[in-house]
Amino acid sequence: MSEPIILDGKALSQKLREELRKEVESYVSAGYRKPGLAVVLVGDDPASQVYVKNKINACEKVGIESFFYKLDKSILTEELLDVIAELNSRDEIDGILIQLPLPSQIDQGEVILAIHPDKDVDGFHPENMGKLVARMEDGFIPCTPLGIDLLLKHYDIELKGKDVVIVGAGFIVGRPLSLLMLWRDATVTVCHIHTRDLKKHTLGADILVSATGVPGLIKEDMVRDGAIVIDVGISKVDGKIVGDVDFNKVKGKVSAITPVPGGVGPMTVTGLLMNTVKSYRKRIR
Ligand code: GUN
Repeated sequence: MSEPIILDGKALSQKLREELRKEVESYVSAGYRKPGLAVVLVGDDPASQVYVKNKINACEKVGIESFFYKLDKSILTEELLDVIAELNSRDEIDGILIQLPLPSQIDQGEVILAIHPDKDVDGFHPENMGKLVARMEDGFIPCTPLGIDLLLKHYDIELKGKDVVIVGAGFIVGRPLSLLMLWRDATVTVCHIHTRDLKKHTLGADILVSATGVPGLIKEDMVRDGAIVIDVGISKVDGKIVGDVDFNKVKGKVSAITPVPGGVGPMTVTGLLMNTVKSYRKRIR
């Protein structure tokens, strides 16, 4: 196989964020307030701290005002629900992001239900998940699936009738992505921890997406020649950020592949910015 196309999420993110920045600027110079995103971090998980910092920095660059809440790791569900109720009621806040995972004493389902669906820029509320099932496009699509869809679109990767195999059935990536790929008329397979013969499924993929967080899970012999590989994993191994895919070996077989870092990661943040501006547009009218 000749050299694969590297699906450059960093470059596409720069382009899309510049478009968002211009759009926001045009609203602000017309006299509207800035878009606002509340970012809530509970506890001091190091990875979450990095993700939250990236999101806040990205907001600033496109002109979204962020409202950062750092809450103690021992906070109770009720106290977090009170914070969310306040954020729901504030007009200058268009989006609410509660960084996951939450400490174990907190009822995550209650927290997600408490976010007003119109401010649920993560797309995790059942109302938005339901809109994803029903293909009601006014809802919010979770940020990583949205980012992957934008990346595939940018590189003109056709999905209609294609076999898309997703490894990982989590509610942040795998499940919502499977629904979005159905919108695009792909034939979708979702594999998970109980899948009996993973390789049998991955070998059938025209487009293989891995979202497990297991470094090196996807090996060369699990990928069909000429396939397109989307690596959602972000793990730290010996101080280095790596994905789910054995990139150096797999890249010799495929027609296109996302790098880690610089592939899906930046597109997730771009998806968040897009959802925040989508909310803002509706709310300032
Ligand atoms: N933790 C890992 N991914 C995400 C995400 O997309 N949104 C939030 N809120 N938390 C996460």
